Amino acid sequence: MSTDSGVDSCRLCPSCGAASALRQEEALWPRNWHCDACGFEPAETNGFVLLSPLLDEVNEGFDLENFALLPKVESTHFWFISRNELVRWLMQRFAPDARRALEIGCGTGFVLQALRDALPAARVAGSELHSIGLATARERHGGSVELFQMDARRSGLRNALDVVGAFDVLEHIPEDVAVLEEIHRMLRPGGVLIATVPQHPWMWSTTDDLAHHQRRYRVGELARRAAGVGFTIAYQSSFMTLAFPLMVASRLLARRRTVPRTLREQLQAEYVMSPVTARIMLGLSRIEHGLRRLGLPLPCGGSQVLVAKRPENS
Ligand SMILES: C[S@@+](CC[C@H](N)C(=O)[O-])C[C@H]1O[C@@H](n2cnc3c(N)ncnc32)[C@H](O)[C@@H]1O
Ligand SMILES: [Zn+2]
Repeated sequence: MSTDSGVDSCRLCPSCGAASALRQEEALWPRNWHCDACGFEPAETNGFVLLSPLLDEVNEGFDLENFALLPKVESTHFWFISRNELVRWLMQRFAPDARRALEIGCGTGFVLQALRDALPAARVAGSELHSIGLATARERHGGSVELFQMDARRSGLRNALDVVGAFDVLEHIPEDVAVLEEIHRMLRPGGVLIATVPQHPWMWSTTDDLAHHQRRYRVGELARRAAGVGFTIAYQSSFMTLAFPLMVASRLLARRRTVPRTLREQLQAEYVMSPVTARIMLGLSRIEHGLRRLGLPLPCGGSQVLVAKRPENS
């Protein structure tokens, strides 16, 4: 297909690199796809196309145990709920006409619901390094989203997307700038990237170690890296600002622990809270969201969010 700007959308074969045209109404990587140039057909597991099969079951970038533990907390925990509210708002504000949306590193597919809610007319897809997470995403979304296994460093998609989401993914990848470059190539000119990452390197704790984080970002750092590969910055802000004092206290207390926690114990400590505390925290995040909508600057917070655009003439 040609995008409005006349740039052709295509897929590059993972084996020989040959480009094949991608039409607007087609799935990004359908199950029966094969390369006309070399005959290559991607492997499949449990019904998911594997574009980077060698990395599928490697505990790299993320601990596979998370995929069993996270679904239990995501739908009830204020952090996940309020981040989805933020993503929905930004999608509607910066990419309301998107017809094709892809979330990279979609994990168990919790944020895909925010994409579907914000962009009801769009085709929504989720990709993930570990297909084990895609099984939960399939349970959550049935056939409403396309799901495939893919390393975000190597998508093979060119000029193919109106919006790409990367929610708490870039901090897991050593080559985050290479991923930003790849996203720039995946987007059509004028397409939009929305990304969230953890903020403030001085907040580093065992939680970051257990999460396989490569880094936490300084204020404005993700925007500087995105601008460095050719994006223009449409919006950036801290978030989890009002919950920040509690997060800092919990991280500082964690530093005093002498006995290391397992991933399961850490998730239990971070994510299990009384219903009253949960309601207060969600209320605080909603007040914060109100401040953000009024345009008030939020100078610090546990995370940062970026909206960046591939320039029309690039
Ligand atoms: C903290 S989880 C976030 C999951 C989801 N985006 C969410 O916010 O609920 C980070 C995800 O990034 C994925 N990931 C790590 N390295 C990746 C890579 N090179 N390519 C694609 N995904 C990757 C992990 O497997 C994991 O699912
Ligand atoms: Zn090929």
